[in-house]
Amino acid sequence: MKILVTGGLGFIGSHTVVELQAQGYDVIVLDNLSNATLEVLDGIEKISGKRPRFEKIDLRDRTAVQAFFNTHTDIEGVIHFAASKAVGESVENPLLYYENNLSTLIYLLQELQKKPEASFIFSSSCTVYGQAKEMPIMESAPIQSAFSPYGNTKQIGEEIISDVARVSGINAIVLRYFNPIGAHESNLIGELPIGVPQNLVPFITQTAMGLRQQLSVFGDDYDTVDGTCVRDYIHVVDLAQAHVVALKRLLDKKHLEKVEVFNIGTGKGSSVLEVIRAFEKVTAKKLPYQIVGRREGDITAAYANTDKANDVLGWKATKTLEEALLNAWNWENKLRTP
Ligand code: UD1
Repeated sequence: MKILVTGGLGFIGSHTVVELQAQGYDVIVLDNLSNATLEVLDGIEKISGKRPRFEKIDLRDRTAVQAFFNTHTDIEGVIHFAASKAVGESVENPLLYYENNLSTLIYLLQELQKKPEASFIFSSSCTVYGQAKEMPIMESAPIQSAFSPYGNTKQIGEEIISDVARVSGINAIVLRYFNPIGAHESNLIGELPIGVPQNLVPFITQTAMGLRQQLSVFGDDYDTVDGTCVRDYIHVVDLAQAHVVALKRLLDKKHLEKVEVFNIGTGKGSSVLEVIRAFEKVTAKKLPYQIVGRREGDITAAYANTDKANDVLGWKATKTLEEALLNAWNWENKLRTP
């Protein structure tokens, strides 16, 4: 069965390609290489024993997208990762984000709605909930107005998909990710942050590696267990497997609605200090850090209620925070070893 993975050389995309190939799917990867390198294909091939087909296409190029689907008429499912994801950059350059994340979605859906039937998996984010009133967060929690253009593209993306699915043969599953971290245990693929990492775990591993002087912990005066923000950190391999389960659900026609939404997290919240302590424990390294002021736009806490993902989707995270941090650390070591 032929499956298209857009953004398939990125962090979550590459891990998902590995899991898809392990389940026997025939994968075609599209990527514009704006935030990934061709070497990722080598990593995927070494893990899977199979090199996925790859085409360098920028999905903002509508003619290229049309030509792709005219050539590959037998694609049955699409997992759509290709998007920009830097919150700060989206505030500075909103149109770039609306174009990158929404025009690409529209062009893909335009091609898919020509088919009698298509299965579509969309990467959304827990950012759509803003600061939810109740923890853990259920899928039925209200969507709050977005803090950033990036967050807004995820909300608008979800709306576009529902509107199109209603009037076409497209069936979709929207996965709202919590905080993806870690790397494949083979150490052959992982996260490749460009420049100074904005996310916690790559900043921690680079600090432990000596590339950054110290970690700044953004605020310790939140209303949480130790004053630092709480998030639901999920191992990228668990997250990748959720995509394969979701795709199979659509292909097997097990879905109950044209568009289904699932939270993809572990259900467990960890504070920034808890993450630091867990990292120190598994790596036996002391992490230099200091408490600084809050980061603008940060919410106090976000962790998932995973009942729907567990009971309806039939997927559950299996890996621990410690495993994810150890895999992230091993990957950082690999990156820095010539
Ligand atoms: C961020 C984005 C979110 C996006 C997600 C993608 C913001 C405000 N939110 O989530 O929209 O979907 O990345 O991965 O950018 N922290 C530190 N020091 C650091 C870095 C982070 O203390 O140097 C803290 C943050 O305050 C936060 C936690 O670590 O409490 C996690 O931060 P991060 O990894 O950036 O993820 P989010 O902010 O949850």
